[in-house]
Amino acid sequence: MYYSDEVVEEVRSGSDIVDVIGTYIKLQKKGSNYMGLCPFHGEKTPSFSVSGSRQMYHCFGCGVGGNVFTFLMEYENFSFPEAIQHLADRAGIKLPEQEFTPEAKRKADRRMRLFDINKEAAKFYYVRMKKDPGQTAYGYFKKRGLSDETITKFGLGYSDKGGRELYGYLKSQGFDDDILKESGLFTFDEKRGVYDKFWNRAMFPIMDGNSKVIGFGGRVMGDGEPKYLNSPETPIFDKSRNLYALNYARQSRKSYFLLCEGYMDVISLHQAGFTNAVASLGTAFTGLQANLIARYVKEVYITYDSDGAGQKAALRAIPILRAAGISAKVINMKPYKDPDEFIKALGAEEYEKRIQSARNSFYFEIDVLKSEFDFSDPEQKTKFFRETAKKLLQFTEELERRTYTEAIAKEYQISFDMLNRLVNQYGSAEMPTEEKKDSYTERKKQKQESGLNTSQKLLLTWLTTEPALLGKVKGILTAEDFTDEFYYGAAKEVFEQYEKEGTVTPARILNRYETKEEQAKAAELFQTTLLGDLDEMQKAKAFAETVRKVKQSSIEMRMGRAAETGDLEAMQKAIAEQASLNTTLQKAGL
Ligand code: GTP
Ligand code: MN
Repeated sequence: MYYSDEVVEEVRSGSDIVDVIGTYIKLQKKGSNYMGLCPFHGEKTPSFSVSGSRQMYHCFGCGVGGNVFTFLMEYENFSFPEAIQHLADRAGIKLPEQEFTPEAKRKADRRMRLFDINKEAAKFYYVRMKKDPGQTAYGYFKKRGLSDETITKFGLGYSDKGGRELYGYLKSQGFDDDILKESGLFTFDEKRGVYDKFWNRAMFPIMDGNSKVIGFGGRVMGDGEPKYLNSPETPIFDKSRNLYALNYARQSRKSYFLLCEGYMDVISLHQAGFTNAVASLGTAFTGLQANLIARYVKEVYITYDSDGAGQKAALRAIPILRAAGISAKVINMKPYKDPDEFIKALGAEEYEKRIQSARNSFYFEIDVLKSEFDFSDPEQKTKFFRETAKKLLQFTEELERRTYTEAIAKEYQISFDMLNRLVNQYGSAEMPTEEKKDSYTERKKQKQESGLNTSQKLLLTWLTTEPALLGKVKGILTAEDFTDEFYYGAAKEVFEQYEKEGTVTPARILNRYETKEEQAKAAELFQTTLLGDLDEMQKAKAFAETVRKVKQSSIEMRMGRAAETGDLEAMQKAIAEQASLNTTLQKAGL
């Protein structure tokens, strides 16, 4: 732990979860909770719930959950200490410096120093661009039509020819080799020594959503391979969950984003006034990026290259966007290759027209499909309609499916009845509906969790939901009865809190966990839905059974261990507990 428990708890209790999450997503009061659209998966109706009394959030749709720290770690991609720092700043709490152990400081510093290195490198590249020989890069940007304002806005720069300039500069700034190695900006070669990775290139700093530089793309000026070189993944540069220019696009007031392939496309569009343009980072578009977009807008206009590769990439991006609850349209830029060239040739106004006439993504998919079949051949034509019918099944809502079926039937001149029958035929034959799929994965998950772990988890959920029950099991159950190591840790905290304060604060239990995975697992404990809709009688009975089950297996486990180690004393104790278990439980009214 980087900070003491007290400090962590001070920051947590000083940061109301409804306030904090409310700055990121729109929340509406529903009963005793607040509801909103989940930022971690695509959805059109709110299933993301935030509880002020419990200081926890939980999504009934995708199952994520946690406390205010977990939220920031997921949403902003912060580390645990970064989340604490952010919230401490927000709440005006001064964090004690001396709380860092040297090891912890080194670890926390690592990310911060990587941010520093990238920031320093961006400044260095920018300054070098203004001097000879960096003028070549400046000239290159100018030749491509960029204004000084644009160059500054995107922090463009130049990496020198010598191959060691950045290294020398950062060394002089006091960064050591270990951390420079991790930055991905250098090649460490045993024989040849250290070299700048980017060499004689026009430089594009890549910033995260908070305008912090996290990596670079470097372009050759003229011809050469590779055309673009990108920073490798580092602890602060995750290509799958960042988007180029998101820091600007998130501030644009448009209700949609323009999704491009290249950095230059984004920059050209911004310069032409389309400040809602973003691009992925030299890799294919990912679901994480779609979720990121879904936090800001629900509509995306894809403006990829107009060639075959761009078309394919658009076809891949569409379902990813759809899964995140984003509807997509595809902009046609023909006869130009990409938005950069289009704008240069025809200007912003014409581009705006192309936005207006962009094709709905489903039609786009069908258009591409159609181009694969020869309509003069009846067999191929039939195949086309079969494939189209299958595609229409992706609309799970009947009305929507019907509307699309009608539109397609009209456009491709087939009778509606005919196409609709085909759709229904495929619909009944295959394709589990959304609901079926959900319950299937749910069942699988439940099966995977062993029965015992489920009992321990259920019991913990129960005890934290109704802390009064902790009084009831006093003297019967202890944290040690939770044989699963993870649940033992959580139980220990629960029992301690109850002992000291007579109540339990779920959000505080999460403070113990520093990784998102652990926090998510612990957060599951506090999902009251686990308990279902039992009436009081059923509940009491189920509770008693769960206590018995957990206690019983704990005794058995201790017996087994005692037998193995030949620990007579432990064995006798376990036997005695076993013998009196029934009376003990009865006495407690269980
Ligand atoms: P310009 O020629 O500068 O206009 O490039 P562009 O913006 O038209 O980019 P292009 O369509 O050629 O490529 C789109 C994106 O793919 C670029 O922004 C890079 O992120 C990435 N990319 C392009 N070429 C390469 C390459 O050779 N290697 C790698 N790793 N990425 C590349
Ligand atoms: Mn281009």
